Amino acid sequence: MDLTKIRNFSIIAHIDHGKSTLADRLLEATGALTDREKSDQYLDKMELEKERGITIKAQAVRLTYKAQDGQTYILNLIDTPGHVDFSYEVSRSLSACEGALLVVDAAQGVEAQTLANVYMAIDQNLEVFPVLNKVDLPSADPHRVCEEIEEIIGIDTSDAIFASAKEGKGIPEILEALVKKIPPPKGNPQGLLQGLIFDSWYDSYQGVIILVRIFEGTVKKGDKIRLMQTGGIYEVNKVGAFSPHPVELQDLAAGEVGFVIAGIKVVEDAKVGDTLTHHHQPAAKALPGYQVVKPMVFSGLYPIDSGEYDALRDALEKLRLNDSAFSFEPENSLALGFGFRCGFLGLLHMEIIQERLEREFNVELITTAPTVVYRVTTVKGEVLNVESANMLPDVQMIQQIEEPFVLASIHVPNEFVGAVLGLCIEKRGIQREIKYLTANRVMIVFELPLNEIVLDFFDRLKSISRGYASLDYDHLDFRTSRLVRLNVLINGDVVDALSLIVHNDKAQYRGRDLVATMKEFIPRQQYEVAIQAAIGNKVIARSTVKALRKDVTAKCYGGDITRKRKLLEKQKAGKKRMKQVGSVELPQEAFLAILKIK
Ligand code: GTP
Repeated sequence: MDLTKIRNFSIIAHIDHGKSTLADRLLEATGALTDREKSDQYLDKMELEKERGITIKAQAVRLTYKAQDGQTYILNLIDTPGHVDFSYEVSRSLSACEGALLVVDAAQGVEAQTLANVYMAIDQNLEVFPVLNKVDLPSADPHRVCEEIEEIIGIDTSDAIFASAKEGKGIPEILEALVKKIPPPKGNPQGLLQGLIFDSWYDSYQGVIILVRIFEGTVKKGDKIRLMQTGGIYEVNKVGAFSPHPVELQDLAAGEVGFVIAGIKVVEDAKVGDTLTHHHQPAAKALPGYQVVKPMVFSGLYPIDSGEYDALRDALEKLRLNDSAFSFEPENSLALGFGFRCGFLGLLHMEIIQERLEREFNVELITTAPTVVYRVTTVKGEVLNVESANMLPDVQMIQQIEEPFVLASIHVPNEFVGAVLGLCIEKRGIQREIKYLTANRVMIVFELPLNEIVLDFFDRLKSISRGYASLDYDHLDFRTSRLVRLNVLINGDVVDALSLIVHNDKAQYRGRDLVATMKEFIPRQQYEVAIQAAIGNKVIARSTVKALRKDVTAKCYGGDITRKRKLLEKQKAGKKRMKQVGSVELPQEAFLAILKIK
């Protein structure tokens, strides 16, 4: 393959600025999609591919495009996720490219993740060119947004393309710009093989599928390959590319992007960031890989019906096969029985996994409030990673507790600056910088404890800014902090699944608010339910759910049977998400009450 005819690119954008819609238009315009598939958002669809026995996860799609110069080009579009939790996936997609389309909503302008993503692209020396999307909107002001891009990011917008992915406007111009502006890849197809694995996933029909960007050499069917980091040796069964359906190719040579299938049984053996080379004539060194990502947020997942424990474990195992950033291990709670402690990259990642478990695997869950990882040094000098309040050693055993801090960058219109500053300070933030990006857009940078962000920060930020604020954050460091365990007692018994680690200064009112909020969620039962919050043995707050006096159906005077039945059904449905804890039935909401404190 002639390298000058290849372009490898990504689309980077803030969430909802139209990346997926634009990608679909590019697929359509180059004839990669049939009418049936045009329906919507091809790149986001996993279901479709399942039917065909091969899954497309990290989407790397090969498009064939005949340019105005009469030449045919191969455009490899490497998709990137847009959300704050997945920035590491963005960076690894970018390392397979020479260029990136920067998509900015022409009505919204530059947002926090636009900036985070574009800096990643610039750091990796990619050619970045701006596309102003959604110009069809009445509120679109692409010229203003161009000024914003120049001022804030410092990239030239004189050739920026005004587009509407929705209406198909600007698509031919984008395709031409890809060919003209993005440099072709470099590399020697005869060199010693070096391929960067930028994604891998398990497919039940084919085994592990690896997505690679070949930087040097050529790989083909029958080759003996070695993965340089894990040392595994395999024989290649198939190489190819997605266009967007899998197409087998003769080989993949320097500059190309595609898949390799080589009889690898488990994804752990084909680590993202590893370098693929030939077994007999290996490259001298591996390509620079990626930072290993560690879960930052943890939560307990318990089946509502304890008989579903094995089904839940199987479902978690299946999910982990395709998601190396997700972890889980068995956990036992006195209150909730057997379940799993699961680790996620962030809150969105957690929600996605929980939803998939319920939707795809049909397991009903009780989830506990999310927590971060604390670093605890004991008096004996041991250092423990504490992922749940229950793992926290006794106070006398603790020398110090450190908590993770992040550097958060918040973009917000001028008028909300005061409210955002107030929120950050309330959340124990330390101000780093306030910068006016334009006359009306402000970037606020704070150091914040991650513990405060996983609770309700994001929702609060959205509500105080009427949805206009955007947030991006990066892990910073661990800092010593005065943290205590806050226990919740139900009718005098500590419910371990409700324990939390909170900052000492906030323990009092968090405890008070928590019991008050829980009271709202716990339905009346046959007897009185006392809810208490305690630090150590000291009870700091209490509320009571009064006993139920009447049968719910009592008011039906035995007359209207349908009404009676309806009420009983309602009661039954309400019970679905309940967990018997001692003598009390607790609904799911009670376990997440900490997130609902106002
Ligand atoms: P994530 O996949 O969630 O990161 O979002 P995305 O950036 O891929 O955005 P997506 O393509 O899902 O578009 C977000 C919303 O904007 C959808 O409701 C689209 O229909 C809409 N949208 C995309 N492009 C345009 C456009 O050119 N004009 C208008 N009016 N709406 C658009």
